[in-house]
Amino acid sequence: MLGGYFPFANIDTSLVLVGTEVLVGAVVGYISWRIFYERVMSPLRDVPGPFLNSITSLVSNIQGALGKNHSYPIELHEKYGPVVRIAPDIVSISDPKDIRTVLATHDFRKSQIYKDMELVEPNTFSAQDPKLNSERRRQIGPTFTWSAMSKMESLVYKSGPGALIEKIEQLIRELGFGKSFKSVLVGHHDVIRWAHETVQLCIMYSIFPWLRKLPMVFPKWHESERNLLKFSTNTINERIELNKNAEKAKLRQDLLQAYLFATDPHTNIKMTQSQVMTETAVMLIAGTDTSSETLTWAVRYLMSKKDVLAKLLKEIDAAFPDKSVPIAFQDAKDKLPYLEAIILETLRISPAVPSRLPRDVPPGGAKFGGGDNDGYFLPEGVCVAPHVMASHYDPKTWPDPLDFRPERFLGSEAEANKKNNFGFSWGVRICPGRRLAWIEMMLTLANLFHKYELSIPKDLEHNYKNMDSVCYLMLSPKNAQNNCRISIKRRE
Ligand code: HEM
Ligand SMILES: *[C@@H]1O[C@H](CO)[C@@H](O)[C@H](O)[C@H]1NC(C)=O
Repeated sequence: MLGGYFPFANIDTSLVLVGTEVLVGAVVGYISWRIFYERVMSPLRDVPGPFLNSITSLVSNIQGALGKNHSYPIELHEKYGPVVRIAPDIVSISDPKDIRTVLATHDFRKSQIYKDMELVEPNTFSAQDPKLNSERRRQIGPTFTWSAMSKMESLVYKSGPGALIEKIEQLIRELGFGKSFKSVLVGHHDVIRWAHETVQLCIMYSIFPWLRKLPMVFPKWHESERNLLKFSTNTINERIELNKNAEKAKLRQDLLQAYLFATDPHTNIKMTQSQVMTETAVMLIAGTDTSSETLTWAVRYLMSKKDVLAKLLKEIDAAFPDKSVPIAFQDAKDKLPYLEAIILETLRISPAVPSRLPRDVPPGGAKFGGGDNDGYFLPEGVCVAPHVMASHYDPKTWPDPLDFRPERFLGSEAEANKKNNFGFSWGVRICPGRRLAWIEMMLTLANLFHKYELSIPKDLEHNYKNMDSVCYLMLSPKNAQNNCRISIKRRE
């Protein structure tokens, strides 16, 4: 009777049990094999780290998905030392000397993860092949020299601090206070949102590469990616048209122009239009949130460290007594060493690119963590990942690492400390946009604090160490709408 309703009731229960046993047996067998392989056979078996991380990538992936790519490895390095097996085939390192070994040359190539995140075609950021990266960096290199950058300073001023000051003046007229300074610094332009959402998509690509073929998943982000690429293409086409009709002397001097004319001095090869397009998109992604998040962090720290702020204001006022004259970059660089130290300390304590810079160990293998012992040998092909923030929070290198102390970058320890600051990475793949970022950040902070008095509401005056952050490839303040509220008024 029962069988009529429950068709499976007729099946011999012993068969079901046997089936379950086989399944359970298979799972137990697989797990046992994983444990046996990773703990006994694997060449990484002696590398310290949590047990679970050595047999599955799940733990570190979940931490990443929770926005803790920056903070979770700090905890692991605190507990296990400068070399940590963070996943079965990924080893995180935090010792500055080890990090420089990895980043100095092209021997350690960028890992597959960069390819997974690639936009359109191989570009400066995603290229694993050293030849392609070197050629591209020779092509775009001249764009980012100090002398080329200085020609763009007026543009940077106009769209950076100039626009910011205009916005603040408007805010002072309309509201006076209460606006999140993150939204003021980061802005609300569509392109910035597209760049932002494309980063979200790239993170997903890095976890699920097959998502590229399924635009119906995350339709909004896919649309942003398309918009960003379309924006790049349209801008390039418009510029090419504009150039046709302009005299050479009157060409606009900006990054896009420089990219269009960029030539590899070794081979005289220029970029194709599609290459300029992917580089422009990469630049929009790599260069917008990074600078603006760093500025946001700098302001947040200055608001909580009253002594640091007072010292900065004293420096600015002594060097630039006339508040009606905007401060130029070279003057700021020459006369505001404390501001420079503040930016360096911000890049140390809240690096905009805070987590792993994964590279593959080259043939022959390499040893890391040799400070106190022999070190751990990593064979060819293992992913070795310098961890920027774990290194920046190591008390051996940075005493009292949670304290925001710009003085670290002044005086006798300054040079050594600058060398251990990986905010812009290091070596052959160091950030090519760093000089532009310096100009943006120095100009913005110098002129902002020159003209305005900034303060945070009483309820935010708790210690800045308590302010949480999240990492989705880049580091942002958690709940910025609340934590980054600010009051602004003109200085007398
Ligand atoms: C405060 C601002 C910035 C910070 C903290 C920063 C940080 C970094 C870091 C840490 C890397 C290495 C990434 C890796 O190896 O995975 C990098 C690479 C890169 N950055 Fe920046 N960056 C900033 C601004 C910019 C700007 C303004 C541009 C362009 C206009 C730019 C373009 C690039 C490019 C193209 C790469 C890839 C270089 C290569 O792999 O050869 N960045 N940046
Ligand atoms: C965490 O880091 C890994 C390795 O760099 C990266 O592939 C992944 O996208 C990151 N996840 C997030 C959410 O940033």
